[in-house]
Amino acid sequence: MKKLFAALALMLATYGTGECKDYTISTPGSTLVLTAEVGKPLYFRYYGTRASLDDVFASHRAIKAQAFRAFGTHCDLSHACFIKHADGDNATNLVVDYVEQTEDAQMTRLTIVLKDTAHPFVLRLHYDAYKDCDVMKFWAEYTNNGKKPISLQKYMSAALPVKSQECVLLHLDGDHGNECNETIEPLADGIKILSTQDGSRPSAHNQAAFMLGTDGKLDETDGNVIAGTLAWTGNFHIEFEKNRIKGQPTMIYAGINPVGADYTLAPKQTLSTPEMVFAYSTRGKGEATRTLHYWARHHQVLDGTKEREVLLNSWEGVHMNVTQEGMNSMMKDFARLGGEMFVMDDGWFGDKYPRDTDKTSLGDWCVAKGKLPEGIEGLIRIAKDNNLKFGIWIEPEMVNTKSELYEKHPDWVLRHEAFEPTYGRGKTQLLLDLTNPKVQDFVVGVVDNLMTANPEIAYIKWDHNMSILNASSPYLPKALQSNLYVEYNRSLLSILERVRAKYPSLIIQLCSAGGFRLNYGFMPYFQEVWGSDQTDARHRIYIQWGALDFYPANIIAAHVCSTKNKYTQRVVPVKFRFDVASMCRLGMEMVPAELTDAEQAYAKRAIAEYKRLRPVIQQGDLYKLVSPYDGDREYASLMYVNDKKDHAVAMFYRMTFTRHMPDKIIKLQGLDPDRQYLIREVAPEVEGKPIHISGKKVSGRFLMEEGIVIRELTADRSSRKPFNDIRDMNDYRSYMVELIAQ
Ligand code: DGJ
Repeated sequence: MKKLFAALALMLATYGTGECKDYTISTPGSTLVLTAEVGKPLYFRYYGTRASLDDVFASHRAIKAQAFRAFGTHCDLSHACFIKHADGDNATNLVVDYVEQTEDAQMTRLTIVLKDTAHPFVLRLHYDAYKDCDVMKFWAEYTNNGKKPISLQKYMSAALPVKSQECVLLHLDGDHGNECNETIEPLADGIKILSTQDGSRPSAHNQAAFMLGTDGKLDETDGNVIAGTLAWTGNFHIEFEKNRIKGQPTMIYAGINPVGADYTLAPKQTLSTPEMVFAYSTRGKGEATRTLHYWARHHQVLDGTKEREVLLNSWEGVHMNVTQEGMNSMMKDFARLGGEMFVMDDGWFGDKYPRDTDKTSLGDWCVAKGKLPEGIEGLIRIAKDNNLKFGIWIEPEMVNTKSELYEKHPDWVLRHEAFEPTYGRGKTQLLLDLTNPKVQDFVVGVVDNLMTANPEIAYIKWDHNMSILNASSPYLPKALQSNLYVEYNRSLLSILERVRAKYPSLIIQLCSAGGFRLNYGFMPYFQEVWGSDQTDARHRIYIQWGALDFYPANIIAAHVCSTKNKYTQRVVPVKFRFDVASMCRLGMEMVPAELTDAEQAYAKRAIAEYKRLRPVIQQGDLYKLVSPYDGDREYASLMYVNDKKDHAVAMFYRMTFTRHMPDKIIKLQGLDPDRQYLIREVAPEVEGKPIHISGKKVSGRFLMEEGIVIRELTADRSSRKPFNDIRDMNDYRSYMVELIAQ
């Protein structure tokens, strides 16, 4: 991408004259202003709604703050970079050397080149503004022009001063099976850091993403909001620094987490940082979300505008008990429900050590013949007979100590040679040392060998269930051990480049103990991400709600679990489970034959409807109507609207029942106020018996200004006799309606 940009770039201006100049770049709705004078620090002046220089400088919004503070001159405050120079100096004094502005069809790029006044160190700051959406990307290049190595102790991608001392912050935290919990809190004075230290799973525990309401509130539809997300596959650091000194901006610093990762930069070497992506909205966080979704689908996610298929994954159905017969029947049963793709998960591989438990076999990517006598070929044949595509699970960055791979290459793992490593899953799992080029070839070969032997594989699930627990590389020299956190991830990216060069359109799902790798840094190489190992529909609403703040529906895989959830043991009606999974990329994760006949009939109806509506759900604009985090956490509701505003899908969920629930009025959004919409219930729970509002025609204006009441959503079903059907359970009610412009 960067190369392409350089090739297409049209040089507009280079200044080296000493003249002080204000540089502006804009998206359709936002503007950034910097002031650069050769020999002086770079100053940030403005980031906000699209504005002229006159607007900015006449207003309260202009400020003059150092745009990228280096440790050395204002050591009392936080900073964007901290360099230990070859002569032992800690201090850096960055001044403008020259400025470039370039342009291609997609974006305008402003590059400010800064140099240190005392050391041979150069920093290039890039500010990219998209032409078709309100997204800017900030990233940096750190160059050592000296003759000896230097050490980057902190090397952020971006620094952004925000002219507000009343900010409200949204961030996502969580854990395995509990990802993307939304927290909204006023930004307190002092320093707040969002970060991960997992090594190779950036969203273990925290997301590298935030929303910042800058008007003292963070509302869905109102107020100015900056959304930010760091596109990086490794440890991240997002820091907010706020104080109450009059006129002081709130600072945002974002980049690679420097903890354990001070980076040794060799002479003449340049380190390019990951991109920090910012979206600006003047209409609340909902608009910021839609902007990020648009950007993601059109500029960042592989095949971001292509439709995703409905699949069945074998994991929760059979775990590692993979058998030919079991896979065959799952495929046949799923095909009858209208499925499109079958994915065989963990448990299919290992020759000398068949994968029966999580203690063995990772690394041995050949079929366990005892389990699958007809091999992958046999499975693909059955898939084709049933009109399904076929996919397969791998975890190519890993090895178990009980494996042929480890027996051959014990030196290919991350560990310190002098002590016992810390093991991951199964107490035998270790991470391969991707910095080693031979290991890189091996990992590329895992995909390549599978695809060469079975070119009809249509989908790969690329899993990753371990942190960098042992941050020592047998391959890297001792002096470069602290580069490991960066080099592991750069090596991974180069592996992914090689895989994609050969298999550009193979669908590859990214998975990591559920959603631990949900990050835009991966998305140029993957079409989708497994949202979470939490498939309990009630819990999943919260996870998807959080993930959807930043990531579009088509990249979040959401699967319907068995009637009793394998992990929580909660029993949730099939309709509710389908309606929750239909928020994102729908799939199933169970043995379909375990569903009752009535549930199977419902599943068939729901899948057919999802397939019909997926252009709207997967590509439409998302409007969040009622947050599941609000109030007593009783309801959630959201809707998708296509770009012509003539087709929309709205989803309503009730998670808890209390007696005598009042009507829930829900105001729709995103419709055309001047059009009439036919409301039609999608996949009613009883065929032919839609909810009362189905079939009515209502104007977009009315639906948005007065709202809609789904009476059935608050209904009490406990009086029904006999009360013996799980569809009568009171807690879980859900409805989907489509709105068709007349
Ligand atoms: C973790 C993933 O999140 C699951 O979906 C499943 O693929 C298992 N790994 C398999 O070991």
